[in-house]
Amino acid sequence: MSLHPLSRRLMAPDITAMKRVKPIISLTSYHAHTAAIADKYCDFLLVGDSLGMVMHGYETTVPVTLDMMIVHGRAVVRGAKKALIVVDMPFGSYEESPSVAFRNAARVMKETDCGAVKLEGGQRMAETTRYLVDRGIPVMAHVGLTPQSINVFGGFKTQGRTRDQWAAIENDARAVAEAGAFAVVLEAMAEPLAVRITDAIPIPTIGIGASSACDGQILVMEDMLGLSPRVPKFVKKFGAVAIAIEEAIQAYAEDVRGRRFPGEEHVYTMKDGAEADPPQGSAQSRKSRKS
Ligand code: KIV
Repeated sequence: MSLHPLSRRLMAPDITAMKRVKPIISLTSYHAHTAAIADKYCDFLLVGDSLGMVMHGYETTVPVTLDMMIVHGRAVVRGAKKALIVVDMPFGSYEESPSVAFRNAARVMKETDCGAVKLEGGQRMAETTRYLVDRGIPVMAHVGLTPQSINVFGGFKTQGRTRDQWAAIENDARAVAEAGAFAVVLEAMAEPLAVRITDAIPIPTIGIGASSACDGQILVMEDMLGLSPRVPKFVKKFGAVAIAIEEAIQAYAEDVRGRRFPGEEHVYTMKDGAEADPPQGSAQSRKSRKS
């Protein structure tokens, strides 16, 4: 369990300061109620653009818009009181130029009240990262498998499994660290590369499919809860929420069908004690129609 000795919400420098001190705990979060629960245990919550796939049923994160990120970002900020909230910049909202990235990231910060944004990309995003940080926007970077580039990768492919791929990915992580990112997500990469990067850079590495060598871990909440129908190899299911939901819905349907729900305890009575006409279709109204 993560302890929050501070009474204020954690900020980007607090996460950076945790490197080599204690493991950083994080999850994605897209809505207020689950954010409130995760807030008790997590150092930061990421409003990931994976919400496009998890909440909205898209095949990739590419269709996600800035407005979608802002709606979910606001909900998570309202639900969580202690954790730093990081909001993903969606595909198309930051790549064009540092000034476009600033305009959109500033909108995300103002409209959600989050504490940082996340950008996918290493060396190619270094200039933009520096531009945002210099203007007051903390940036979490994301290298290795960057899902917004799925159409270039040709699928959700694990990175760094051959040594010839290492230099480019390590240089990506170094570039964003030098540009002022406060942490970097390492997604879906071979363990020896994650070890190397974690040792080489001064900012925390947050692993998702990048082994326990990283300074912290993140998972998509619905994946680790056992709610997502398909999950990658690196996910451990800590719950069986899909089964619990199905059992509850099945029980509800059976109770409605068998007229056991709503029961007396769920029904409003009249304040003055007068009896109302029985609702149409109720057992009582059918009985009185027969008599
Ligand atoms: O969008 C997301 O959920 C992410 C995590 C995979 C880190 O970027």
